[in-house]
Amino acid sequence: MNATGWVKRVLAAPFRRGPVAERRRRRGTAARIAAAGPAGEVSFAVAVESRSSVRRFLDDPVPRADVERMVALATRAASAGNAQNWRFVAVEDAAVRQRMGVAVEQRLEAMAAWPEAAALRGDLTAVRGYSTFFAEAPLVVVVCALPYESRIDRLLLARGLPAEERDRLRQHPDMQSVGAAVQLFITAAHVLGYGACWMSAPVVAAEQLERILEVEPPARLVALVPVGRPAQCPAPRSRLPVREVLRFR
Ligand SMILES: Cc1cc2nc3c(=O)[nH]c(=O)nc-3n(C[C@H](O)[C@H](O)[C@H](O)COP(=O)(O)O)c2cc1C
Repeated sequence: MNATGWVKRVLAAPFRRGPVAERRRRRGTAARIAAAGPAGEVSFAVAVESRSSVRRFLDDPVPRADVERMVALATRAASAGNAQNWRFVAVEDAAVRQRMGVAVEQRLEAMAAWPEAAALRGDLTAVRGYSTFFAEAPLVVVVCALPYESRIDRLLLARGLPAEERDRLRQHPDMQSVGAAVQLFITAAHVLGYGACWMSAPVVAAEQLERILEVEPPARLVALVPVGRPAQCPAPRSRLPVREVLRFR
């Protein structure tokens, strides 16, 4: 590089770092994924770093082959005892999605009438905003969990430990496993050119949603994931620096 090139590089350096440059870089990676198309291959790091939650969708339907691919990738997740205790219901029917949306709305309205909610009016309005948009997506993937019981669980139960103590010793391996699958699912959706959002807020209406979707015990509805071609491309949100979340000993 000649001297002028070196000076240009040094002068431009501050603009290649910092949050603005980072956002531009990540938008760039999202565009690379979009350009690569469903058949394109991207590195794991590019896929993970360019994903962000999408909450507005185009109407284009999501072909079943793509849904199956997302679920196939999601089920590569690790699971406690390889129990694979996740189950998915892909809701394509717009009328069913509308009923689900209404069920969540009504549940939130009922909760807003609780005397305890009086001090939380503003919060509940915000909650409504991020609880019901799933109904507008062309597809909602409902994630259910089956119970997982290891030998240790059985031992702790036989020992008569109370549920709280058992939870402290086990930290919900069933939910950890399903969470791993959901993270892979939303990343797979992103790589295939779709937007998605992991949602637990609608679970306040789990009972009503399970009835609509005929989810039978022992399965439990634990999350919804609306999926569709994105109508917005939010820049990836910032994360805590590694030094804040990692320590070596
Ligand atoms: C367990 C879990 C539950 C979530 N529930 C909701 C939800 O109910 N509604 C929503 O809009 N976003 C929900 N999110 C998405 C988070 O708000 C989002 O992941 C976070 O703000 C980071 O943004 P990003 O996904 O774009 O990186 C949830 C995420 C997780 C992991």
